[in-house]
Amino acid sequence: MIKNYTALKNNLFIYVITFLLLGSGCKKEYTPVSMDKIRLSWNYNPATTITIGWDQIGGENPKVYYGTKDKGKDWKKYKYSQKPTREVNELNMKTRFCELNDLLPNTAYYFVIKDSEWITDRYWFKTAPDKPEPFTCIVGGDTKSVEPSLSAGRYSNQMVSKLRPLFVLFCGDFTSYDATDPDHWALWLSDWFELTKTEDGRLFPIIPVMGNHERKYDGILNVVFNTPYQHDDPNNSYYSLSFGGNFVHITALNSELWPIDQQTDWLERDLKSAENFTFKFAAYHKPFRPHTIGKRENMALYYKWAYLFNEYGLDISIDADSHMSKITFPVVPDSINGYEAFVRDDLNGTMYIGEGSWGAGHRDNDDDKPWTLRSGSFNQFKWLHVFPKSENEEAHVDIRTVITSIRDSTKTSISHVEGVTPLSEGNVFAIPEGVNLFSTEPYGEVITYPFVDKKK
Ligand SMILES: [Fe+2]
Repeated sequence: MIKNYTALKNNLFIYVITFLLLGSGCKKEYTPVSMDKIRLSWNYNPATTITIGWDQIGGENPKVYYGTKDKGKDWKKYKYSQKPTREVNELNMKTRFCELNDLLPNTAYYFVIKDSEWITDRYWFKTAPDKPEPFTCIVGGDTKSVEPSLSAGRYSNQMVSKLRPLFVLFCGDFTSYDATDPDHWALWLSDWFELTKTEDGRLFPIIPVMGNHERKYDGILNVVFNTPYQHDDPNNSYYSLSFGGNFVHITALNSELWPIDQQTDWLERDLKSAENFTFKFAAYHKPFRPHTIGKRENMALYYKWAYLFNEYGLDISIDADSHMSKITFPVVPDSINGYEAFVRDDLNGTMYIGEGSWGAGHRDNDDDKPWTLRSGSFNQFKWLHVFPKSENEEAHVDIRTVITSIRDSTKTSISHVEGVTPLSEGNVFAIPEGVNLFSTEPYGEVITYPFVDKKK
């Protein structure tokens, strides 16, 4: 990471020299750097669309040049081009969004962005399959803008580039305090761009979810990531995306929006519409039943959503907020007989995973329940390998907890990422050498959903 910033500083120096040379009559086509903080997000159909966002620092008339053939920085050779489809001038950034449509599913796309002054490096991304195909994704949440959490978040970012997921589902709390500080967002977006990209220029789409830190800035996820919203109000930041035809449906909810009945009605309609999907995931920020005693129980949210999850057969619930790690056995809500209102039910239950410690300082895992499969205290995210039914096996999700850093006695974040061998593009389902996976004994490092308890 330090290397990256040193390189950035060196590059800036070169760019200034280039600019001065140009001024003195030397011939060069572009004067960098006029665009940065490039990020991808999935707002609509992930098989055929993507949104490319960036900060337009200088220059004019930017355009994305893209296609399925890698033409490097030779922008004229790309088959397609697209002007920004939306401009947002907030948070001291000139954010430009380019929504690309009519893309081919399960396909690599290469692109550069060129404006009147400069052309970016060549980057690339992959669209999602439009029929059931195996994929991997990373789910997590909670980063901070100050040390030592800042470093911990950067280590998790670096791990993304090593694992090459189809996408990252980020369950809220991006910055410290209340997300109104432009410097915090600039830092977050620069880190995301610089540290999650791979050496061969692959960028990974983010699916953002609202956290409590984002509450005070109206429509913040739409401002930063072009995220969809409901009922013509950017503050109604909740939406859903479908992957692989009717393979996986992901509902990105907003636990921070009260009153919540309008969203709950929408949730019921959304889950109903996804009844024939193989897997249904829901993502939101605040756990119903946190696994650290310092966090409040969220029973109001539980009564609104937990029974709906059960009624419509939600498979996996993903949360964050507490800054630690948990994975539960499949559970069903039972507010009368359950322990903390849940009962283990391996056959019919929803598995609850998450509690978010992408970068934020990890809290103690001191509030386990009888239905907790395993909890832990470290910086981490969950790495999901999702498989459709095949000749040899039933559809299933392999869940691993990837430890990205642990704080030592002086509260310094110690990286568990540096020694990890990056996966190659053709081998994204492998387990990389050197990765620190949390051992969920007696079940080992991988928990498979649907859950069959072989230890019983
Ligand atoms: Fe939070």
